[in-house]
Amino acid sequence: MDSNTLIGIIGSGSMGAGIAQVAAEAGHRVLVYDNNPAALGRADESMRGLFAKLVKKEKRTKEQADATLSRISYVKDMLSLRESGLIIEAIVEDLKIKQRVFEELSNLVSSGTVLATNTSSLSVTAIAASAKTPEQVVGLHFFNPAALMKLVEIVPAAQTNPEIVETLVQLMLAWGKEPVVAQDTPGFIVNRVARPYYSEGFRIYDEGLAQPHEIDAAMEALGFRMGPFTLTDFIGHDVNFAVTESMFHSYWGEPRYRPSFSQKRLVDAGYHGRKANRGFYEYDEQKKAIRPASTLSQEENKKIQDRVLAVLINEAADALHFGVASAEDVDKAMLKGVNYPKGLLAWADEIGKDVIIERLDALYARYHEGRYRVSVGLR
Ligand SMILES: NC(=O)c1ccc[n+]([C@@H]2O[C@H](COP(=O)([O-])OP(=O)(O)OC[C@H]3O[C@@H](n4cnc5c(N)ncnc54)[C@H](O)[C@@H]3O)[C@@H](O)[C@H]2O)c1
Repeated sequence: MDSNTLIGIIGSGSMGAGIAQVAAEAGHRVLVYDNNPAALGRADESMRGLFAKLVKKEKRTKEQADATLSRISYVKDMLSLRESGLIIEAIVEDLKIKQRVFEELSNLVSSGTVLATNTSSLSVTAIAASAKTPEQVVGLHFFNPAALMKLVEIVPAAQTNPEIVETLVQLMLAWGKEPVVAQDTPGFIVNRVARPYYSEGFRIYDEGLAQPHEIDAAMEALGFRMGPFTLTDFIGHDVNFAVTESMFHSYWGEPRYRPSFSQKRLVDAGYHGRKANRGFYEYDEQKKAIRPASTLSQEENKKIQDRVLAVLINEAADALHFGVASAEDVDKAMLKGVNYPKGLLAWADEIGKDVIIERLDALYARYHEGRYRVSVGLR
């Protein structure tokens, strides 16, 4: 594949539009299809608005913007995508609906077309199984906003032709992305390894050991851009809670992914976070969190930091142990996908694995809960 490859996009929502922009800026002709004509119109309009802004801010020249826009076409039927070399699906996150689309798609295209899904949480293997030729199907997971976030998780299904993986690695590099290869397991790399960042923050709060603003301040002092409470308020508790619940069920009740009742209460109350003007924090008219400064001592901060970091590193080590990705890709994913200050496995080496194991063993000795068991990969 090269920039002459025609790219098809299915779904013109936030992810589909972002991916279309990236492909068109990399020089491809792009066809965008959505089964809702109004959504197609909105995507076209907002893409034009976006490039007008980029030109105004001098981030693109007028010529670049016009050339990119001229490479994107919006089509009203899926059949128009049949000549594409790569089709990326970014429709609603629903297995049955995605399966129907892949079945239909695989009957339209030739065997040389790569059919990719941008799913965040569904089994790529189950999606591939619905296609006439499952070996053409692969996961290609972009992060939001797709135009800005560098990380792309490439997820081969059980049936995927292995050659497709290398082809996509090269293509993503050509698009200026940072590709990693992940095994088809729930959450892939990022959505799995990041879970404890939220869950351990919530757990410390649920136990009454510290308040959201104190836990946030401690984690931010360690180099994380946003503490877990500020971050989930920003993501939206409806979205974040749904992912946590889905992970918990997908791993058949794994205690490390157990959701928190404080977050569930926010969801039940409709306090979805910043977008609702209320989550763990309340928000003023400028959408700024009303968040008091932390008065915890250095020592108290360190207790919080050590505990959250230990469970995060444990999760990264477990993902590595079970072959979800290489050590290099586990670290790259967290650096480029969620802007962690350091790769977790490199961080473990820096602190010393024995120190992390000691911290986890102390938590396990205190709580006797499976969530604190040391991954054999770390031990
Ligand atoms: N939003 C994120 O943060 C994010 C990040 C990574 C991956 N994803 C995944 O990307 C996919 C899309 O997410 P989004 O946030 O862009 O959703 P969205 O709701 O913004 O857009 C989905 C679009 O798909 C269209 N659509 C629905 N069913 C269709 C069908 N059968 N055929 C054609 N078009 C159809 C809808 O009309 C809509 O325009 C989901 O699988 C999601 O899990 C989302």
